[in-house]
Amino acid sequence: MDLTARRRAFPALDQRAHGQRLAYLDAAATSLQPRVVIDAVVDAALHAAGNPGRGVHLLAEAASVALDDARHEVARFLGADADEVVFTSGTTASINLVADAWGRANLGPGDAVIATELEHHSNLVPWQRLCAERGAELRIAPVDEDGRIDLAALDALLDSKVKLVAVAHVSNVLGTIAPVAAIAARAHAVGARVLVDGAQAVAHLEIDVRALGCDFYAFSGHKLYGPPGTGVLWARRAILDAMPPWQVGGGMVARVDRAHARYREPPYRFEAGTPNTTGLIGLGAAIRFVRSLDRAAVAADEARVHAAIARAVQAADGTILGRPEVGVVSFALGRVHPHDVATIADQAGVALRSGHHCAEPIHHRHGVDASTRASIGCYSDDDDVAQLARALARVREVFG
Ligand code: ALA
Repeated sequence: MDLTARRRAFPALDQRAHGQRLAYLDAAATSLQPRVVIDAVVDAALHAAGNPGRGVHLLAEAASVALDDARHEVARFLGADADEVVFTSGTTASINLVADAWGRANLGPGDAVIATELEHHSNLVPWQRLCAERGAELRIAPVDEDGRIDLAALDALLDSKVKLVAVAHVSNVLGTIAPVAAIAARAHAVGARVLVDGAQAVAHLEIDVRALGCDFYAFSGHKLYGPPGTGVLWARRAILDAMPPWQVGGGMVARVDRAHARYREPPYRFEAGTPNTTGLIGLGAAIRFVRSLDRAAVAADEARVHAAIARAVQAADGTILGRPEVGVVSFALGRVHPHDVATIADQAGVALRSGHHCAEPIHHRHGVDASTRASIGCYSDDDDVAQLARALARVREVFG
């Protein structure tokens, strides 16, 4: 599927935005969904309409089988085993699951967690709360001006008190790629676990959790061309085996009497309640779609468009935050407020994100409270960039 065919696969691109061609440059907030995902969700609502794992009738059985297929799809995508794949509602839920279940069982007074300076709030606030509750210390690993994690500074923070290192695979603001394997090797040398927030990586990088060497990998379906409200927590089977459950209730128990409950094996132990069946089946379809693409060709197109966006921002006298490598370009346009930039761009049919993108500390590191961000997917093309360039020129005209 070349870029033209990929664009045709996404029906949302056919609509007009304020009478203009739609240039959707907000994939990092949420990506568009291809027709095959939309069809899979509709089909699931019709034919896999029962409650998975909770019935012997046709529609419940169809839901169970389709959900199981989706779990295997995720496992193949990550280079993992299906019984290591826990379904959640998104990256935020996956990280909170680890903080609440693993963290409460493994972190005590005097222990420490390391997060980096560029984390999304979803990979920072759960650790702030956990450390405060457990009397543990939260250490922040700095990044350099380009947005690269300073490994020497990380080494200085790593000691035997550290139980976990939490790091974004790709920064949602700076677009930098973390050296996860190097971080994991360092963390493991002091006995710490490594959690990777893969939300911004999964759509752009090939993921192999064993090669990365991490212990937990979290991502959301809606940034991978899947439906919102779907997510994954991958963890090594031995870690899941030793982990107490997070939420408790139906579906995660093997046996219950009036006083006690015996929990099921992973991954079901971590999936209390009726899952988002249609969404997760849609996530399976999204991953099938991604796996059907020529990922090298997609990466080449994305790299060209990404570089062209950076050039367009610079041509408009914008200042790019960090030195983005993949997916996003965040920038300041003089003293114009990012919400004004995004509002004018919207009128020109260009969808951008403005604000702090749920990552305030890294904005403060760059001396700003907010930025404007363009972010791409496998459907982004050179016309999107040309439209962005015209929109930025219009911002300049309006604000002088
Ligand atoms: N985390 C998403 C973003 O970066 C919402 O926009």
